[in-house]
Amino acid sequence: MTIQSLNDLFVHTLSDVYSAEVQLTRALPKMAQAATAEKLIEGFTQHLEETKGHIERLDQVIQALDGVELQNVTCVAMEGLIKEGEEIIQEVEQGPVRDAGLIVAAQKVEHYEISSYGSLMALAKNLGYDNVVSVLKNTLDEEKATDEKLTMLAEQQVNQHAA
Ligand SMILES: [Fe+2]
Ligand SMILES: [Fe+2]
Repeated sequence: MTIQSLNDLFVHTLSDVYSAEVQLTRALPKMAQAATAEKLIEGFTQHLEETKGHIERLDQVIQALDGVELQNVTCVAMEGLIKEGEEIIQEVEQGPVRDAGLIVAAQKVEHYEISSYGSLMALAKNLGYDNVVSVLKNTLDEEKATDEKLTMLAEQQVNQHAA
């Protein structure tokens, strides 16, 4: 499918982020299982629930736009970011250093999502899709909060433990 209009680009970006969120619902349980610090396990588990909510919000966006049809795209960026997390699990034995590495991988994921939702919101605003902007913003805020929690967890606990 060719992308010609700004709307096409919006639909493409929406399809890409949908794929990213679905991939993440499969990766987060594995990351939780591979972690040791209780707070990190809790964090991954909580963000799994939020991520399911992000998919529900994307479904709301689709409905609000009269059932716009998603493209069949795989988010290859998320595939790569998840692979990096898997590498950490394979190469670092269970414990504080692996936890620190899992946070590195998870924050790359959150930053990718933050950028995706920021771009989607900008496109939605320009296209006059005002009814979906606040829905996207709710998810963006949760991605940012998750990123900040991971920073705190790294700085205040996990990295000190690993050092
Ligand atoms: Fe998300
Ligand atoms: Fe996220």
